Parts: sequence; C-alpha cells; structure tokens
Amino acid sequence: MKDLESYLDRSLPKFQEDLFALLRIPSVSTHPDSKADVRRAAEWVLNDLVSMGLSAELWETTGHPVIFAETPPVPGRPIALVYGHYDVQPPDPLGEWTSPPFDPTVRNGNVYARGATDDKGQMLTHVKSVQTWLNCRKSLPLQVKFLIEGEEEIGSDGLFGLIPQRKDRLACDVVVISDTSQFAPGQPAITYGLRGLVYFELTVSGPLQDLHSGTFGGAVMNPLIALSRLLHGLVDDKGTIQVPGFYDDVVPLRAQERAEFATLPFDEAAWMGRLGIPAVHGETGYTTLERRWARPTFDVHGLTGGYQGPGKKTVLPARGSAKFSFRLVPNQSPQKIEDALRDKLARDCPTGVRWELQAYHGNRGITVPFDSPYVAAASQAIELGFGKRPVLVREGGSIPIVNALHDHLHADTLLLGWGLDDDNTHSPNEKFCLADFAHGIRASLHLWDQLGRIER
Ligand code: BES
Ligand code: MN
Ligand code: MN
Repeated sequence: MKDLESYLDRSLPKFQEDLFALLRIPSVSTHPDSKADVRRAAEWVLNDLVSMGLSAELWETTGHPVIFAETPPVPGRPIALVYGHYDVQPPDPLGEWTSPPFDPTVRNGNVYARGATDDKGQMLTHVKSVQTWLNCRKSLPLQVKFLIEGEEEIGSDGLFGLIPQRKDRLACDVVVISDTSQFAPGQPAITYGLRGLVYFELTVSGPLQDLHSGTFGGAVMNPLIALSRLLHGLVDDKGTIQVPGFYDDVVPLRAQERAEFATLPFDEAAWMGRLGIPAVHGETGYTTLERRWARPTFDVHGLTGGYQGPGKKTVLPARGSAKFSFRLVPNQSPQKIEDALRDKLARDCPTGVRWELQAYHGNRGITVPFDSPYVAAASQAIELGFGKRPVLVREGGSIPIVNALHDHLHADTLLLGWGLDDDNTHSPNEKFCLADFAHGIRASLHLWDQLGRIER
C-alpha cells in the first residue's frame, strides 16, 4: 500500500484544489433559483469521474440530476456502492460567516465553506481514493460504483424514483457512505444507526386579512395563539411527545447498547460549553447520547406570522405557520405518525381558525448489523487511515435513501464518517478538517484493499 499512500501524499494539494473548486459551486438544492448551479455541481462531479478514466453518466430525475459511475467488475469479489451528495443546505444567516460560504478559505487546518463536510469533502475522499488506485495500479481489487445525488438535503425524491428502475446498474453487496461524523477529534467511528425524519408545515388561518387588534382583538381567535397552543400540545416539558401512539413501535435501547454508550468518553460539561447552553434538556431517564442518537424527538424549525418589522404594530394576523419535524427511531412509521398527528390537530385546534398540514416527506430510522465481514474490513481500513481503531456509535441525523438502498438492493450500509460534531453543518462557518480529508482518503484506499480480500 506504500505506493498508494505516497501517491496520495504527493497529490494532496491537487486533491484539495479539486475540493475547493467543487465548494465554489453554490449547489443549494432547496432554492429554485439555484437550479443551474446545482446542475453545474453535478457536471463537475461527472467530469471529475470521467477525467480519471471512469465511465460516468448523468441520470436525469424528477428533480436534480444523479451521477453514476463504475469501475470494471472484479469476479468473485464484492461490489461496493459509494453514495454521497453534492447538494448543500442554504448558507443563511450570511452575516454570521467569517468568510463567504462559497469562497473556501483555510484557517487553522480547516477549510471553511458550505458543504465542506456535508457532504462534498467527505464524498470526495472516495472519489480521490479510486483516482489514486487507478493511477498507481490501473485497477481496483473490487468493483466500486458511485451514486452521487443532488437532493439529499431535501429528501431525495428524484433518487427514490430512480432506484427501482436502475436496480440492475446499482446492484451491489455493500453501500459505503461518508456523510456522518467521528465520535471526537482523533477518535473515528463507525455509525450503526441513524434516525428517521418526518417533516411538516402547519398553517393556521383566521380572518380574511390582518385586523386591528384593538377593534377586533378578544372577539376573533388569533391564529398565532392557536398555532402556539397546537405546538405546545405536541410535547410536554419532559420531552415526551404527546401524539397518541407515538411511542407504540419504538424499539427500545438494548441494555448492552446503553452500557456501550456509557463507556464512550463524552464530556457533557465541555459539550454544553461549546454550544453555549445553560443546561441539557430531554426525555427523563435517558443520557444525552441516548437522547441524541436513539430516542425520537420533536423540533420546531421556523415560525412565521404577524409583524416582524422594527418597533411595534398592533395587528391581529390573518395567519401563521410553523415548520416542525419528528426524528424517528426504528420501527416508527412516518405515515402512522402523520395520521395520528392529523387526528390530534383536528381534536386540539381551537374554534375560530382553520388549520392545514403539509407533510414534506418521511423516512424511517435504521440500525445496520455490525457483526459483518464488511464492518470488520472497514474497521481495519479506518485504523490504517486514521491511526486509531474506530468506536461504534449511533447518530441522530437522517440519510433518507439508506432505507431504500437496503430494501431494493438488499445491501447493508457502512456509515464511515470523517466529519466532527462541531463542523457547523447546516449552520454558519461550516468546516472540514483538511487532515481528516487526507485521513479519509487514506482510509478509503485501505477500504478497497480490505473489502477486496472478501470472497463472494
Ligand atoms: N449528513 C447529514 C445526515 C447526518 C447528520 C447524519 C448528522 C449523521 C449526523 C445529511 O446531509 C442531512 O443533513 N440529512 C437531513 C435529512 C433531511 C433534510 C431529509 C437531516 O438529517 O436533517
Ligand atoms: Mn449529508
Ligand atoms: Mn445535511
């Protein structure tokens, strides 16, 4: 592996430049105005794969394009499918960025840009490792396929539609995803569980237009008060969700899992300090790691309505809305929760206003088996790449397509995250540690070697 590793060392400046080029493209999948930029990012990925000698294709979807590429088949050896995403979250609030979000800037060994860690930087580690293998050895010890999409941050609708159709092209034995985090700096991890998500927008409307609150207040139900009441009814102050039946299908944490989480070196006081919060919060009877990784939750993401300008305005607003979601754990069903939520809102909504609920999309939580030869191979590769044996963790985020890949391709996923919890994903000053970019590529170089030793 010396040849590969020294090629990597020599190529690192070039690989970083490639990453910076991709980071300069503002591929914000949720902004309709960014459509052309999102496509530019897809084409950048396509060209990068083509220029290293792969046959790569751009697949149109109902939304943003998907890039597919593959190395030649290697009979008798497993097929690995690398999944990643080139789309990013909106960069706002812009004023809180130290350097502009689409002008990658290096400070203290980190590159700062939207998408640096989520997921352009992490995804590219596998592209660059395959490039390294092809340059040094002309071929890989197993077949590697790439599936890089542009709608992960908005629920992967387009890709969901493609998977059943393209099942044969996507056939694989194991899925590899680097879109999660290490446990701590210098302590890499393999993630065996992700939470699911079901996301809603609730609109409450009252009078036809905004009213003078002195003339009408007290006689007309205020939509923002009704909205606040409805939201308040969804969770109690212990963090227990009040939607009837919400916990019915929850798979409880196993005693052994709880014991293993408890052995991880998690410094809660330091974590609180970094976040600037005066206290932790959550379901009674669970630790912070359990609450973050393996328990379902309710969060409000945005509240809109009424007067938002400077000073005051005595208005009784005509309507208001809230975006909120529930994180789910195995085996909760997004549809069942939506149904129960609608029943509850219908019961709880005060008279004098109307409510409307839009359900955005849902995906289930997952856990993946960790007693497989693939996990053993990944563990070995990470130890060689990072110089430290990975720990097993679960994480609280969601990657919607993982379930579909499992259901249609019958392949389990290796979640090998190179990021850090304080990378500021989805928030201002997102960063990725450049040393971990290199470690990730090195781990990926070894991953192909280790997986290639498995016979099938
Ligand atoms: N990379 C994240 C998923 C993630 C976050 C995994 C934290 C583990 C820890 C992904 O890009 C993401 O942000 N997913 C969204 C999904 C949603 C928008 C459908 C999420 O979790 O909010
Ligand atoms: Mn991601
Ligand atoms: Mn994300």
